[in-house]
Amino acid sequence: MSDTFYITTPIYYVNGTPHIGHAYTTIAADVVAEYMRMTGRPVRFLTGTDEHGQKVLEAAAKRGMTPKAHCDDMVVRWKAMMERLQIRYDRFIRTTDADHESVVTAVLQKLWDADEIYKATYTGWYSTSAERFWTEKDLVDGKCPDTGQPVTEITETNYFFRMGKYGEQLMAHIEANPDCIQPSSRRNEVLGFLRKGLGDLCISRPKSRMSWGIEMPFDPDYVTYVWFDALLNYMTGTGYHPESPAEGWDSWWPASAHLIGKDILTTHAVYWTTMLMAMGQPLPQTIYAHGWWIAGDGQKMSKSLGNTIEVDLLVECFGLDATRYFFLREIAFGADGTFSYEGFLSRYNVDLANDLGNLAHRGLSMTTKWLGGTVPPSSAPTDAEVALQALAASTVQTFDASMKGLQFHKALVAVSDLVGAGNKYVDAQEPWSLNREGKTERLQTVKRHVLELCYLAATLLLPVMPNKAAELLSKLGRTPDDARDSLRALLASGGSSALDGLVEGTAVTVGDPLFPRFREMPEPIAALFAAPEEEAPAEPQLSKRQLKKLKRQKKKAPPAPPERIEYADFAKVALKVGRVLEAEAHPDASKLLVLKVDVGEESPRQIVAGIRARFEPGDLIGRSVVVVANLAPAMLRGVESQGMLLAAGGTEVLDLVSVDAPPGEVVR
Ligand code: MSP
Repeated sequence: MSDTFYITTPIYYVNGTPHIGHAYTTIAADVVAEYMRMTGRPVRFLTGTDEHGQKVLEAAAKRGMTPKAHCDDMVVRWKAMMERLQIRYDRFIRTTDADHESVVTAVLQKLWDADEIYKATYTGWYSTSAERFWTEKDLVDGKCPDTGQPVTEITETNYFFRMGKYGEQLMAHIEANPDCIQPSSRRNEVLGFLRKGLGDLCISRPKSRMSWGIEMPFDPDYVTYVWFDALLNYMTGTGYHPESPAEGWDSWWPASAHLIGKDILTTHAVYWTTMLMAMGQPLPQTIYAHGWWIAGDGQKMSKSLGNTIEVDLLVECFGLDATRYFFLREIAFGADGTFSYEGFLSRYNVDLANDLGNLAHRGLSMTTKWLGGTVPPSSAPTDAEVALQALAASTVQTFDASMKGLQFHKALVAVSDLVGAGNKYVDAQEPWSLNREGKTERLQTVKRHVLELCYLAATLLLPVMPNKAAELLSKLGRTPDDARDSLRALLASGGSSALDGLVEGTAVTVGDPLFPRFREMPEPIAALFAAPEEEAPAEPQLSKRQLKKLKRQKKKAPPAPPERIEYADFAKVALKVGRVLEAEAHPDASKLLVLKVDVGEESPRQIVAGIRARFEPGDLIGRSVVVVANLAPAMLRGVESQGMLLAAGGTEVLDLVSVDAPPGEVVR
C-alpha cells in the first residue's frame, strides 16, 4: 500500500459565514495532516468551498449579487478563517474552479455513455432546505426528515444515477472493511440504511427551477445536483480527470480519510461510494463522522440566543493554540460535545497553565537558578527515572496509534498523563532539597529528566499547538525541525529513545509563562453574558406565626441551594465518570447499597449510596455513573464511603446520572 496520506474536510457551503462546525473539522484535519508530515509521509490536505446549488443561490439573491460574485466574496472570508486558525492545507478547492467543473462534466459524460445514468419522470417531495427529494415514507410529520422544514410535491423529469444497483456491493464492502466508516456506530447506521434497500439518485435539476450549477453535458436544460458535483471535489483534488489525469494523481487515491460531520454521513458513505463504484475507482479507506458541538444550555446554537461558540473570541482571549487544543481534547472525535466558556477556561487552566505550563516552568527555572541555565547531564537512573522512561515510551506509542486512528482526545490524554507524571516526579524528587543538600549529580539527573519530558511533550504537541510547542522547544534550545527528527527516530525505535532528545550543555531560557493562568473569565467573553442589573425585589413582610412556620420548614428540608453560585464554588467539586464493578446490600441499613466503583484510579472506590429503594444490586453492575470524587470520606452505618453518586430525584431516587465515557473521565 502506498505511503501517501490524503485527507479531506467537507467543502463548506458559502451561504453564511464560517462557524465552529467548519473550524472544528478543519482543525482536526490540519492536526492529523501535520502529524503525518512529521512522521515523514507525503501528505495532501484538501479543503475548500461548495458553491453551487439552491442555498448559495438564495444567499446571493438576498445580497443582490450574482452567485459567482457572492462566492468570490465569501471565499475571502473562508480563507481568512483558515489563516487565523493556521490551517496548512495543500489546496483550497472551489467547486467553481475550472478544473473541477471539467472533472464533473467528464465524469457525467462517461457515466451517461456507460448507461449508469438515465432520464425519467418522477414525483417526489422536494425539500429546499436539504436540497433533495424524499419519498412519502421518508417524511416525518409531512416535513423534511433532515431539517424539519416544509416540503413540496414536485413532478419533474430528471436524470438519475443507478445507485440502487450498488447496494449489495456496498454492504459487502462495508462488512469486509470494518474501518471504512468510523466510528463503528456510524458504520452500523449506514448498514441499517442500506438494508432497507437502496434506490436510484436524482442527480439533475431543471434550469427552469434552479440554474446555479454545472450544466449536464448531455442536456443543456439541466444542471448537476449540488452533492454529485461537490463529492467529486475529492477526486479533482488528486489531479484525477477521466480523460486527462495529472501524472501521479493515483498516488493520492484512494483517500486515506474523509473527515465529515455526522449529518452528512449518507451522502458520503452511500452516494459517494456508489459513485466511485460506477466510476470504477477504489473506495476511500476511512470516512470518519465526528459529532456536533452544541451549546451548554442544550439548545441549538444561534446568534439570537447568544449561545454560539465564538471561535474568534476564544482565539483572541486564550490564543489560537489553546483553542485548537481544547476542541480536540475536550471530547472524543465522533461524540457530540457540549460547549461552555467556563469549561474552556477550566480546561485551559488545568491542562495548560497548571500542568504543562507548570512543568515547563519548574524545569526551566530551576535549571537556570541552580545549574547555570544549560541542559545538564544525566547519571545513573534510579527506579523513578526508569519508570518515567517506560511511561515516555508507551506515551509515544499511544500517541502515534491514537493519531493514526483519529482519536485526538486519547492522544492528548496520553500527553497530559505524561505531564502529570512529570509534575509528580518533581514533587517526589524534591529538587529544592537536592540543591540545598548539594547533591548536584542527582539534581542534574532530575532536571535533565524534567527537561526531556518537556521536550517530548512539545514534540508530540507540535501538530496541535504549533506556536506554543515551538516556543517551548525554543526555551529548550531546540527547533520544530529537531522535534520532527526526534519524532521519526522515536517511532523507529518504538519509543525507547524517548527522554534522550536534548543536547547536554545547550542553553535554556525561562522567559514568560507559556500559558498565563486566568483567574477569571477574560473581559470580552464575560461581556457576552453581562446581564443588565435588575432591581432587588422588596422583602415580604411576614407575621410572627408565618416566620415560625418558615423556620420549621427550613429545619426539615435540606438547605435549598442558593440561586446563584460563583463558578469558583462549582469548580471545587471534582466529578468523574465511574463504572460499577460490584454492588451489594449494606449489612446494617435497608436503604443503602455498598458499591465498588472504578473511577480510573489504581483501585476501585467503595461508595455507599442510598439508592436501595430504586435499584437492586444486580441492576447496577457495569453501569456508568458520575461520582463526586473529592468528597471527604464518611462512615455510613459503619461502612466507609469514598465518594457519592449523582442521582436524579428530590425526595426519592428516580435514576442515576450516566454518561457515555470511560471511567476516570472528568465531568464538568
Ligand atoms: N457542503 C456540504 C458538504 C459537502 S462535502 C462534499 C456541507 N457544508 S456545510 O457547510 O453545511 O457543513 C460543513 C460541515 O460542518 C459538516 O460536516 C457539518 O457536520 C459541520 N458542522 C456544522 N455545524 C456543526 C457543529 N455545530 N458542530 C460540529 N460540526 C458541525 O454540509
